[in-house]
Amino acid sequence: MAVMVTGGAGYIGSHAVLALLDAGHEVVVIDNLVTGFAWAVDPRATLVQCDVADEGRVRAAIRGHHVDAILHFAGSVVVPESVSDPLKYYRNNTVASRALLESAVCEGVRHFIFSSTAATYGTPERVPVAEGDPTVPINPYGMSKLMTEAMLRDVAAAHPINYAVLRYFNVAGADPQGRSGQSTAGATHLIKVAVEAATGRRSHVSIFGTDFPTRDGTGVRDYIHVHDLAKAHVAALDLLRADPSLNHTLNAGYGRGFSVAEVLDAVDRVTNMTIERRLEGRRAGDPAELVADNRAILATLDWRPERDDLDLIVRDALAWERRLAERDAED
Ligand code: UFG
Repeated sequence: MAVMVTGGAGYIGSHAVLALLDAGHEVVVIDNLVTGFAWAVDPRATLVQCDVADEGRVRAAIRGHHVDAILHFAGSVVVPESVSDPLKYYRNNTVASRALLESAVCEGVRHFIFSSTAATYGTPERVPVAEGDPTVPINPYGMSKLMTEAMLRDVAAAHPINYAVLRYFNVAGADPQGRSGQSTAGATHLIKVAVEAATGRRSHVSIFGTDFPTRDGTGVRDYIHVHDLAKAHVAALDLLRADPSLNHTLNAGYGRGFSVAEVLDAVDRVTNMTIERRLEGRRAGDPAELVADNRAILATLDWRPERDDLDLIVRDALAWERRLAERDAED
């Protein structure tokens, strides 16, 4: 039995591939390499370069590799872009997921793990936010993911397939062994931006908003190490296989928040630098605070965070950024 990982050449997907391989699973990756990199796919996995919506090739890969489970990471992830180009998000996230689900059902795939997002909550009424709280996305990105959650629920009710939806909070860091990391150019995520500034790729870090109702006025987020998140997927797969009668929707976060200023303090501490901060206005659609109530994931999965430490997250992200800089220098 093999596991199919869509988006396995991307940031989070490539770490999930490593975690699955390290746990002894056979892995086949589906990736169109539009934002991912072939070199990010561990050579122990098989890479099939195609779109997740290419039903012919996806179904052939499922059959050829005896795939019983799909981990679906492929998708578009830039929130502001989803506002300016919503149809791209409904195509790449919602419509493509529909096609993938059809391939899965037609080929008798039994388990499905979906990369969802805390953006499905929109601006939560309370923090920490729990899985049963209202899901009211405030951007097309969150809506495109929420629509896929709904499809998955309906498909699992009608067909012999069970699922885990993992709603990611703020994913950061890199593989502790230096095998993968966040490599996408032009990234907008805070920790990535900050380590780019630390390695000279940017001159400064902008702080978007200093007047939020938080302890220091800057936005608070729940940063989760990508290595822990990847291992949560392996635990979710084990659970889905062990009890095919149950489905799960779980927040993937550590249950504590750090402000933008606290993150930048950590970057200064780890790099022994003082990175220039520029105070700017709020970014459209940013909630003040987004922190996971993570009791459900802790109670459900055989999983415990191993790298719940902001300095460690920054250190791993920085090590990867330095590797990328060295690679660029060699080219
Ligand atoms: N921020 C800055 N400066 C930057 C980048 C970010 O101040 O250069 C701030 C943001 O305003 C926010 C915090 O840092 O307060 C985190 O911002 P990110 O862009 O790193 O992440 P977001 O919280 O906006 O979004 C992330 C994922 C989304 C997901 C969302 C759910 O990127 O895919 O978490 O919480 F939907």
